[in-house]
Amino acid sequence: MASPAIEKLSIEDIPPPPAGTIFIDDFSGVDVISAGATTTSPVKSPAFAVYTFPNAPAYYLRRQVDSPFEPISASALKKAKKGAEGLAKKAKAAEELKAKKDADEAKRLEEASKIVIKPDLSLPEAKRIKIRDGAANEGTRVVVQGWVHRLRLQKGLAFLVLRDGTGFLQCVLSGDLANAYSTITLTLESTVTIYGIIHDIPEGHFAPGSHELVVDYYDIVGLAPGGDDAISNRVQENADPSILLDLRHLVLRGETMTGIFKVRAALLRSFRRVYQELGILEVTPPCMVQTQVEGGSTLFAFKYYGEDAYLTQSSQLYLETCLPALGDVFCIQESFRAERSHTRRHLSEYTHVEAELAFLTFDDLLSHLEHFFTKTIQYVLEDEEIAAIVKKLNPSFVAPQLPFRRMTYESALEWLNEHGVPNEEGETFKFGDDIAEAAERKMTDEINEPILLTRFPVEIKSFYMQKCADDPRVTESVDILMPNVGEIAGGSMRIYDLDELMKAYKRENMDPTPYYWFNDQRVYGTCPHGGYGLGTERILAWLCDRFTVRDCSLYPRFTGRCKP
Ligand code: 4AD
Repeated sequence: MASPAIEKLSIEDIPPPPAGTIFIDDFSGVDVISAGATTTSPVKSPAFAVYTFPNAPAYYLRRQVDSPFEPISASALKKAKKGAEGLAKKAKAAEELKAKKDADEAKRLEEASKIVIKPDLSLPEAKRIKIRDGAANEGTRVVVQGWVHRLRLQKGLAFLVLRDGTGFLQCVLSGDLANAYSTITLTLESTVTIYGIIHDIPEGHFAPGSHELVVDYYDIVGLAPGGDDAISNRVQENADPSILLDLRHLVLRGETMTGIFKVRAALLRSFRRVYQELGILEVTPPCMVQTQVEGGSTLFAFKYYGEDAYLTQSSQLYLETCLPALGDVFCIQESFRAERSHTRRHLSEYTHVEAELAFLTFDDLLSHLEHFFTKTIQYVLEDEEIAAIVKKLNPSFVAPQLPFRRMTYESALEWLNEHGVPNEEGETFKFGDDIAEAAERKMTDEINEPILLTRFPVEIKSFYMQKCADDPRVTESVDILMPNVGEIAGGSMRIYDLDELMKAYKRENMDPTPYYWFNDQRVYGTCPHGGYGLGTERILAWLCDRFTVRDCSLYPRFTGRCKP
């Protein structure tokens, strides 16, 4: 049956609305008081209009999108008044409920404030421990200090997970301790000193380390804010990444971040352990320099007592000068790159692990690299705590096995062309093309194992690289590529003949003068040598399965970001 046509008043027949008229629109209106009930922000229902604005001089209503506002009919107004009574009743009930809740809460807080918690001086003196030593101190009365990581309050019980950087400890408060004012108003990230005895957890329960602290006393050191300023309101997981970066100092406290930084520490420890085993000595070259290593376009320049200077891009040249003095050397130092583009794997400041080795062949360098890398990862995973974190962050991680696949630049071009991966111009790869990030990642992901990519053309590599004896178009250079990240390390044999080095400066339009100290290494007892640099954050992104290297740097620096 066709619906009866709604008779519309023509605009001229509608009396003008008096001042203060409330407008109601079934389509675009919203029933909130802030709506204002004007033609541009009307309310939705007549009942709400009458309930909220009972003394309005008139109510004008629109029931269809394209019709004008008309005065409400007498019958509709009667119905609206009834509806308004219902709304008033509901509001009153809600108010009473809230008042009761507030009173209950006030009573609870009042009762709680009467509870005085104090230490039981008859108990044995507590032994001060860090959380990591919890298991070794089961049954002993201990005192631990840390931050409230999680908090669950139940009737007569409070479960608090304490964090001290060395681990997490579940603390159980009962009786007066659980009901005290300080406990029921405690907030996340507050700092506390807690006393009690560590016990095994009851069968079927879960707690970090499989034990918990049964608390007999605690003290608040610093109460963190609650309400709007509570940490859970300030740091929200799905917030805009730039907000999370502004709040990096708070975000760092989360379990994922602390996990990554524990793996990072283990990685740096392992690098040093392997170097120590190999008899390679640690040195600390300067960060403020007057020479470039990897091209002028990514230099951070500054004035150094009136002279031009840069933040170091790589400590390689300095390491080379150490060879005659100290033999094989390494450093773990920040490198700085003014990278213009935002990518997943570029930072403006990163932790660069570099080594330089004397009297070796290119093949020796490749063997050293794969040994060094696999041994480092083996040591990282030997630490059970770290292995558990890696497993959690990257469940399908498999440690790389020797030997790594070796592939020349030219065979990589063949692979890319056979697999239809174009170069940066969208064309087939030809000799001399750079293998940019996307193509490199595509190939590495598909091959899905570590690759030592070697013999890059002279023109796409740095000035100092030694040419291959059997093909002067290419260099004795290598990149280590890893699935998911691509290049994590780059190295090469270095030109060790002075004339050849001078030609390289010329080719690259570089003035050799500031490099006099580097050139002298070729003058006073030159030797074949080579080395490499690894990007710590890239290795971590691979190991911990992070989308971006930014997650692997404490306070990442990249274009437009230098705070906090
Ligand atoms: O390939 P690169 O530029 O090589 C050098 O600096 C050599 N002088 C190192 C040497 O032989 N001693 O950088 C080496 C590694 C890269 O493979 C990558 O892992 C990392 O450093 N890297 C970066 N990591 C994060 N952000 C950046 N902007 C990076 N640039 C390089």
